[in-house]
Formats: sequence, structure tokens, C-alpha cells
Amino acid sequence: MRGTLTEKFRAAFGDAGEPRLFRAPGRVNLIGEHTDYNGLPVLPMTIAQEIRIAVLPRDDGRMLLRNTHPDFPPLEFANDDAIAPSPPGSWDNYAKAAVAGINQCLTPHTRPGFSLLADADLPNGAGLSSSSALVVACALAYMDALGLSLEHDLPRLKLAAMLADAEHFVGTRGGGMDQAVILAGTVGRACKIDFFPLRVESAPLPDDCEVVVCDSTVKAEKSGAARSLYNMNPRLCHLGCELVRTRLAEEFGEEVEVERLGDLWYGPLCLTTREAEALFMRAVPEGPVPLVEIARRLRQKPEKVVARWLEEVPVMDGGYDILARLRHQAGEYRRVETARDALFAGDSAALGQLMNESHASCRDMLGISTPELDRLTEIALEAGALGARLTGAGFGGATVNLVPANRVERFIETVGRRYHEEYLGRDGDASIFVARTSAGAGPV
Ligand code: GLA
Repeated sequence: MRGTLTEKFRAAFGDAGEPRLFRAPGRVNLIGEHTDYNGLPVLPMTIAQEIRIAVLPRDDGRMLLRNTHPDFPPLEFANDDAIAPSPPGSWDNYAKAAVAGINQCLTPHTRPGFSLLADADLPNGAGLSSSSALVVACALAYMDALGLSLEHDLPRLKLAAMLADAEHFVGTRGGGMDQAVILAGTVGRACKIDFFPLRVESAPLPDDCEVVVCDSTVKAEKSGAARSLYNMNPRLCHLGCELVRTRLAEEFGEEVEVERLGDLWYGPLCLTTREAEALFMRAVPEGPVPLVEIARRLRQKPEKVVARWLEEVPVMDGGYDILARLRHQAGEYRRVETARDALFAGDSAALGQLMNESHASCRDMLGISTPELDRLTEIALEAGALGARLTGAGFGGATVNLVPANRVERFIETVGRRYHEEYLGRDGDASIFVARTSAGAGPV
């Protein structure tokens, strides 16, 4: 579809007036994967690719959704108290998440509808957070329909924290990284984000390197099949946290307040990373732990452990490697803090090394890599990247690469040839690009 977004809106909805325009950028995470939901830091940046929407309020309470992308059919729902999720993978879930979340948190007196057209140059399923960008854009549109403005009525970080919870509506147990960087990102800087409470520190990007994104072109749609794969790590981390809490209660002779793993560092115990690692080893056996053993340690029935902590995680006869997940948390926490310091020190070599270590941990400890992502990172390092790792939820999507500025052209050419032409056997030039930051989401 050609033309401006306003023209496309008029074509979709008839000449209904001058729509309001909003944008929300995608993001690429430099380092800090699967840590946010445990309250441990991350280091992403916005990218120039974004979701744009044109929207007009309606007074009949109907939410009409149109998308310029042919994969996303027209959909509609009513803005009432009974907003229920559509089947996983249905794109209206992101608009529903935003609207239901705002209704729940802000309890507006009216329930206006809207006519909304979404358009994007941000690929979906590439690990670049197209889903959260859509949630944020829809939230801005709905706030506008309610007469609320960003910053004036609702600070950016408050909205980000609210939408992180709201997005659980789609069934993924994600953390708050994506909504925070999409709303609070700044041009030319990365965001070091801490959680509970949400804090954002902007950090300089290297001036001797570019951040290059390579899409493996294996789709990882968080709302679709990848959803239960994604949820496995948050669920096992929460279970690991319970094992740690149980162990602490035994050691101290009383309950210690640890709501999430990050509280070990930031809560009353204030552990160092070394101390947290030692505690993990006392609390959880090495290797896969059978369900009955987990239940015995928690003094619970196995069915209770499944119902309370594992939920949709498939039953594994051999057990669950919880210690590996906990070790990833400790290692990734240290890497994010060191990477933040490397950014301020302009030490690209150190940052690259940390990114490589992060990829290895995501692959070996979390099991979220794929053969394609592993191959793509290997080729990237051979093609001159200082660091290469998967970015985002994993199970497909893209890699993020730190490439010396003077080698970028050769890098793109070599990775295109060796990964796309030789490994996948097809041309994929558009899937490799230099990431350029953009401002946080807002009105256009
Ligand atoms: C997804 C989630 C985030 C985060 C990443 C992994 O993008 O939405 O909250 O957990 O995966 O780091």
C-alpha cells in the first residue's frame, strides 16, 4: 500500500477526519537476556525501525483494527469489562493488552472506542520487540482517546511498568525491558535498565563500532508457538527462587524476604554475585532435578509444584536444570554491569567479549539458541565482529553484533554471502542492517 499513513487510514476507514499519529520504535538488546523478569538489569537500545499508527476515537466503544501488512487481518473488539484474549498469535491481543491494562490501572470513567491503522517497517518475529512496540503504540492511542497525554498525565516509566504487566495478557511471562526502552530510549544512547522500581540510565554507544543486526529469518513469534518455549525460563527461574528461599529459611531459621532472584542482590541480603552463586549451589542440585526431588525440597506435592510454578512447562522425565538457569542470572548480571562500565569507558573490545560470553550462556545454560543463531554468530565473529550474540527472547529472531566501523561493509557482505547464500541457500540482504537509535515512543 503506497501513500502517507493518513491517506492509508482514509482508504481503510473512509474520510472520517484527521487521524492522530503515534510511533513506537523497536529495540535491540546489547546484553542482559532473560534477566528482566527476575529484576536484574538489561542494556538495550532503540532502533530506527518502528510501528506507526493512525487513530481516531469512536464514541460507540468499538475498537476497529486494521493493518497495512497482509498477514494481519482486520479485527474488532468491544471496549468493555469483558475484554478476553483471542487465540495465541492473533494480533488484536496486543491492542487488547494495552486497552485492558489501562482500564484496569487507570479505571477511566468512559470507555471510548477507536479506529486504528497500524503500519510498520519493523519486522515481526525477529526478536526486535515488534509486539511490545505495538502494545505501546496502542496504549498511546487509547490514552489519547481518553484525553490523557504522555508525561503530563502519565510519566513514561510509569506507563512502561504498567504495560509490562499488561502484556502478560497475551500469555507470555515477559519482564519490563521492552516497554521501558521503547518509551524511555534516547537518540545516540543505549539504556541501562534496572527494575523494581524501574530506572533507566542512558549510556554512550561506542564511537569506533557499529551495532549490526542480523536476522536469522527463523521467526520467533512470542505470541504463537514460541510462547511456551519462552515461558519455560521465567517459570524455572521462579521455581529456582522458591528453592533458594526455602534454603535461606533453613539456614537462617526464619523466612527471608526474597520475592524474585534480583532481591538477592538488592534486597536485605545484599549479596555479591559470588555469594549469590554459592547460595545457588547450596540450594539447588547440579544437572536436571526430577520433579519429585523438587517437590521434596519444597515440602510440597509434585502436582502442587506443577500447578503453582511449572504450569505449561512440559513434564520432563529427566527433570529440570534449574541450577543452570540460576547461574545464567548471576553471570548475566555481572556481564551487564561490566558492559555498562565498558560503554562509559569506550572499551569496545571488552563489550564484544561480554556479548560473546552472553551468547554462550544463553545457548548452554538457558537453551534459547538455535542452530541458525549459533551459525550466524560464528560467521559474524569470523567476519570481524568483536561480539555477536542472539538478542531478545531467543528460539529464532536476530543476532546483535558489535562491528568495527571500518569493517562494516565487508561484514555485511560476508555474512550475507556465508549465512544467507551458503548456509540458508537464499538471498537475505535486507535482513542485515546497521542499527540506528531513535527517540522513545510518542506522537508523530
Ligand atoms: C522478550 C521479553 C523481555 C525479555 C526478553 C529476553 O523480549 O519481552 O521482557 O525477557 O524477551 O531478554
